Amino acid sequence: PEAITVQELANRMAERGADLVKALFKMGMMVTVNQTIDQDTAELLVTEFGHNIKRVSEADVEIGIGGEEDAPETLRLRPPVVTIMGHVDHGKTSLLDAIRGAEVVAGEAGGITQHIGAYQVGLPDKSKITFLDTPGHEAFTEMRARGANVTDIVVLVVAADDGLKPQTVEAINHTKAAGVPMIVAINKIDKHEANPQKVREELLQHEIVVEDMGGDVQDVEVSALKKTNLDKLLEAIQLQAEILELKANPDRPAEATVVEAKLDKGRGPLATVLVQRGTLRVGDIFVVGAASGKVRAMIDDKGRQVKEAGPSVPVEVLGLSAVPSAGDPFSVVENEARAREVAAYRQSVLDRKRTTSAPVSLENMFASKA
Ligand code: GTP
Ligand code: MG
Repeated sequence: PEAITVQELANRMAERGADLVKALFKMGMMVTVNQTIDQDTAELLVTEFGHNIKRVSEADVEIGIGGEEDAPETLRLRPPVVTIMGHVDHGKTSLLDAIRGAEVVAGEAGGITQHIGAYQVGLPDKSKITFLDTPGHEAFTEMRARGANVTDIVVLVVAADDGLKPQTVEAINHTKAAGVPMIVAINKIDKHEANPQKVREELLQHEIVVEDMGGDVQDVEVSALKKTNLDKLLEAIQLQAEILELKANPDRPAEATVVEAKLDKGRGPLATVLVQRGTLRVGDIFVVGAASGKVRAMIDDKGRQVKEAGPSVPVEVLGLSAVPSAGDPFSVVENEARAREVAAYRQSVLDRKRTTSAPVSLENMFASKA
């Protein structure tokens, strides 16, 4: 049984710390808000305040609410989530751009990716692929470190005129560590200095054996500039996705992960989330990181307002109380009270990680008597 500080318990109960201290005083205990009490005392207090005792598990904090698995019969195929990685300027954004047929590169300051973009691409056979364009590997590593493994497949972009570079090797290592299958896109083959064979040989030194060399890692020679072999790259992704048999239950409260967040002057805190299971709807109440909110509106990757978003769909969500961080779990809950409870609990866990034990000072002794 775990000890808890009076303040943490107050947070979880959405009561004032001072009120708990008063109640404890009546029970014959002289404690401050920063002191810990045992589980029995905590339960007594909870009952005293007329709350139901409902323990929130650690799993709720790390991966969201309702960590239980979905029954096999509820699972439906979902689009693969593909992260594009590679060295600076090897053409990640250009490639994604060519696939989308949009002009993202042109709009970026200096052509350097400012943030993670998440886009869904429709294929002629009506299937879809979700792409994440990472600005660097930090985001990928950070998300993974936090248990947010959103990526199903990595497309490693290597410029054929430049070969393997430090960030290419980093990307290879991150991908291996994550246990995510990789497809190599050998880009810029339109350049006369292009040497795709050299890229394959360099990959061999990092134990990446592409199909051309007798291995099982798919490699595709492409040119983002000339739009060469983009269909082959998409086919390679589809093939890999089929092997993975990616499924999720669309008929449950949504669980998603934040891939990008910002504060917009006009619209307030915004988060781009990737739905992982369930369906997210306008009006849903959610907890994201240690904040909560209600979905006011959702905007898809084409800038259109949408009413719902299912598994593997990235959407921008309006209606957050604060700006979350990339990798934060985003979970729909049944009501606002539950949202506050989980948010407060997550906050208390964050606080506990920050300050293991706050010393009792004269100041908070007085504060607790208020
Ligand atoms: P960062 O986001 O800064 O890491 O770069 P990136 O990997 O997204 O590369 P980006 O798409 O911005 O492309 C870098 C440069 O390479 C741009 O000038 C592109 O026009 C050029 N480029 C990208 N793909 C090709 C290609 O297939 N052929 C040629 N010739 N140039 C390309
Ligand atoms: Mg880029």
